[in-house]
Parts: sequence; C-alpha cells; structure tokens
Amino acid sequence: MSNVLPNVPHPPSVPGPEVGQPPTVEPDGGATLLAWMRRMRDERPVWRDEAGNAHVFRHEDVVRIMSDPALYSSDTVGRLGGGETPSGVLLLLDPPQHGKLRRLVSRAFTNRLISELAPQITTLTRELLDAVDGDRFDLVEAVANPLPVMVIATMLGVPVADHDKFQAWGEQLLATDASDPESVRRMELTGKEISAYLQEFVDARRRTPHDDLIGTLVQAEVDGQRLSDDEIVSFATLLLLAGHITTSVLLGNTLLSLDSAPERWEALRADRSGIPAVIEETLRCRPPFTRVERVPTRRVEIAGEVIEPNTMIHLWLLSANHDERVFDDPAAFVPERPNSRQTAFGHGIHYCIGAPLARLESRIVLELMLDRFRTVRVDAGAPLSFHGSNVFGAERLPLVVRRA
Ligand code: HEM
Repeated sequence: MSNVLPNVPHPPSVPGPEVGQPPTVEPDGGATLLAWMRRMRDERPVWRDEAGNAHVFRHEDVVRIMSDPALYSSDTVGRLGGGETPSGVLLLLDPPQHGKLRRLVSRAFTNRLISELAPQITTLTRELLDAVDGDRFDLVEAVANPLPVMVIATMLGVPVADHDKFQAWGEQLLATDASDPESVRRMELTGKEISAYLQEFVDARRRTPHDDLIGTLVQAEVDGQRLSDDEIVSFATLLLLAGHITTSVLLGNTLLSLDSAPERWEALRADRSGIPAVIEETLRCRPPFTRVERVPTRRVEIAGEVIEPNTMIHLWLLSANHDERVFDDPAAFVPERPNSRQTAFGHGIHYCIGAPLARLESRIVLELMLDRFRTVRVDAGAPLSFHGSNVFGAERLPLVVRRA
C-alpha cells in the first residue's frame, strides 16, 4: 500500500483556518493543501476566505449541494456581476435551459461515438510516443498536453495541425477568475477569437452536412429545437476549457500514482484488466479539478454556517475524495477499494459529459506505454512542477523509462 503523495515531504506543520487563502498545490504537490483540508473537514467544514467566499470540504455537503441546482446555481458569471452569462456554456446554465442544451449536445457524446474514436486516439498517441527519443522525457510535453487537444480537434472536425492554437486558447480560458471582472473581460476577448475561428466551420457544416461533432451539433434537434450558431460555438469552446488540462492532468496523475506503487506497473504489464481500476483510483486520489463553484439562490445553512444569496461557494472535490468519513485510509492508493463515490467528474445534472472520453484516452495511453516500456519512473533527479490551486497535478512530469 502506498501513500498518495510519495514524491513530497510531509508538511512540517499543518496550517489551520487562520490562513486567508487555501494553500496552493505548488510548491509541494498538494501535501500542505491535503493536510489543511483534513483539518478543515474536522474543525471548519464550511470556511470563509479573506474575501468572504465560502469553502465546503465534507463529501456529504459537496455532493448534496451539487445535487440541488435549484438552490445552488452554476451561473457564477451572471450572479456575481461578471457580465452577461454567455449562451451555450453548459457548465454555467441552470434548469430549465441546462436540460435543453444538455439533451441536444448529448447527441454528440454517446458512448458509441466516443468508443468509435479509439482507433484515432491510438494513432495519435502512437505518433506522439514515436517522437520520444531516448530514455528520459517529459510526459506532459510529449503526450499529456498535446493529446487531449488533438482529440478535441479531431472530434470537432477542425484541423489537428491547429492544436497549438487550441492549446494556448485553452490555457488562457482556464486562467479565468469568475469573481474578477478584468479576468472575465480577458476571457471574453479570447472567446471572441475562438468564436471567429469556429464560426467558419459552423458555416461550412451548414452548407455541407458532416458527421463530425460540429456537423452533429448543427443537425441536432430535440422537440423541434435546434442549436443557434452562438450556442454551438460556445459549446465547442467549453470543450476546450473543460476537456484539455483536466485530461492532460489525469494522464500525468496516473503515472504519478503508479510511481508511488511501482509493483503495479509490472502487474499491469502482465494483466491489462487492472487499468480501469488504476484510473478510477487516480481520479479519487488526485482529481484534476480541485473544486467546482456554486452560488446559492436563497439564504442557506450548510453545516451550521449561514450563507447569503449570491455568495461564491467553492466545493472541494479534492477534499470530498479524501474524506475519511467515506474512504478508509484516504491517502492510500488502493485501486481495489470501492471508489464509485469519488467526485472527480462532479455529480448531478452537470456530471462531466466528457468522462467516457477522458477514461478512454487514459486507458489507451497507459496501454501503449505498457507495451513500450518495461519500467517507468518519475525522474527523481529532475524537479517536478505543479499547477496552482484549481488544478491538481503536475505541469511538468519528467520520466525515466526502460524500453521493453
Ligand atoms: C479527467 C478529465 C476531466 C475531468 C476531471 C472533468 C471534470 C469535470 C467536472 C468536475 C465537471 C462538473 C462541473 C460542475 O459541476 O460545475 C465537468 C463538466 C463538464 N465537462 Fe468535464 N472533465 C474532464 C474531461 C472532460 C472532457 C474530455 C470533456 C469534453 C471533451 C469535458 C467536458 C465537460 C463539459 C461539457 C461539462 C459540462 C457539463 C454540464 O454542465 O452539464 N470534460 N467536468
């Protein structure tokens, strides 16, 4: 049995509720953050940061809030004065608009359509791994960053060669802080650039039907309703935002988890059937998004704390996944454990529409790496660097491999 954070020393002293902001994942890979959240679950299950935003830590509260979209709105942009809520951004919509759009876009995300992508994902991954020279490489740079963007580009039906552009846009959007109007303005500018690019493809699909994702969205109809150009473009943009860094980080996190339990690499080489369980336990231990946001529509009380309407509430998925009230010995990486209650993909009506795709990509990457490499270890001599606070995972992941 191995600990979730083997690559970093245990924090010397655990901070408590007195800090103004949650500890960041950088520089210690999340060791301090996890230790802090453990204290918060016990001592302050609902905590206010220095700006008055509420943070929720226990699994029970996090899941209950995600299950109640009438009381807890996802429209953080519209409700917190960040400007008008852009149409088509599924993530920010509440019922009934959310349900209508979700039913339409679900047409492009069926299990069948996703599993049909497997051969293309395999080819792209092979090409990326073929380009790796020698026995040392950075997994994020070589595979984890480019692959999810290439897959989204393939799905949408835009040139895979434009993936650099997509990658930069995705990173800019991810840096958005919904409570900062300047940051929201920058997001809108990037959004306009992306929209202009995507609109050309929507126009082309309106002229000539096609079965790629943009083509499917152009055709999609539920109860006589169709999507507008704006909705299609916003949804395609959201895919970049929601599906790029998250999947990239999951790939890196899977390797980090396996590095903490090297005997499992050998076991997986002998029997690939354990791959899905390794991915699920990685999602529990190291969920790529640390948290999601909601805004109460009325005055609410959570774990004894009264929260006024239109207050930002951060729901810590990372903390829910490490709640000892639900998961025994939560820091331990144990793929055999029951972990279906992990929250990495959210819960309720906004449950991640791309979850099957993220799982498929991770499985294919792991299978191809197991084929090629007898051993894979994180390069102990090279420094790891991590994302900030909203994303839990490595920004760079130097590996040392022994080829098969
Ligand atoms: C490991 C990878 C991924 C993780 C951890 C992840 C996580 C999440 C989470 C936590 C939510 C819920 C947000 C909320 O409740 O506010 C969500 C929603 C969403 N995700 Fe993912 N995601 C991943 C991959 C993807 C991919 C690959 C795509 C598409 C290409 C995608 C598209 C979406 C969309 C469109 C939504 C909004 C669904 C809705 O509002 O109904 N995600 N994701």
